[in-house]
Amino acid sequence: MKQMLNVALPKGRLGEKVYDMFEKAGFPCPSIKEDNRRLIFENEELGLRFFWAKPSDVPIYVERGVADIGVAGKDILLEYLPDVYELLDLNLGKCRMAVAAPKDFRDDPRHTLRVATKFSRIAKNYYDAQGRDIDIIHLNGSIEIAPIIGLSDVIVDIVETGTTLKENNLEVFATVVPISARLIANKAGFKFKNETIEKIVRGIAAQVEMRK
Ligand code: PRP
Repeated sequence: MKQMLNVALPKGRLGEKVYDMFEKAGFPCPSIKEDNRRLIFENEELGLRFFWAKPSDVPIYVERGVADIGVAGKDILLEYLPDVYELLDLNLGKCRMAVAAPKDFRDDPRHTLRVATKFSRIAKNYYDAQGRDIDIIHLNGSIEIAPIIGLSDVIVDIVETGTTLKENNLEVFATVVPISARLIANKAGFKFKNETIEKIVRGIAAQVEMRK
């Protein structure tokens, strides 16, 4: 039986753009374009299997080797530190991790800063580097609510267009780190399926360059 290359793509608009790049690189799987709710698609001829994963779960599949390669946001990679190779910055899904707060917020260093976030490790590293004492309040979403109702002083969250902050009367106070989508690989898979993976990397890197 032919060896399969398993690819974990983030479900959603970013994943669809990434799939198009695979297709243009010569690694298509036409059935993926059919409008249904299937999550796994194969191109038997090329020995290629794509699956749609929840974006934040992609590194789990790749780290555990059920996916040889995948695409994940730098935010997820920094937060969960999966033991994978980061092969390529796709220059897609660009946004930033930022500290935001109500407009009138003034940081008082005499008090522990209450920080609401989905990205506890990123927030902790950021404030540790400044020697700032913080209390992390880990939330799973809709982080913007926290400072409005008094659960936290600030939030550390992803800002893309800035619309969510604006609509909730919050402002960016600092950028923590710029974020974009990355092509990642399982360490063993990268070794044993190197030829195919390198071909994909070259094909996709050329498209990233062209778009710049
Ligand atoms: C993210 C982030 C912000 C929003 C920023 O939320 O947490 O809420 O996008 O985008 P904007 O700057 O373009 O408004 P996401 O949609 O991932 O959902 P979440 O609230 O569950 O984190």
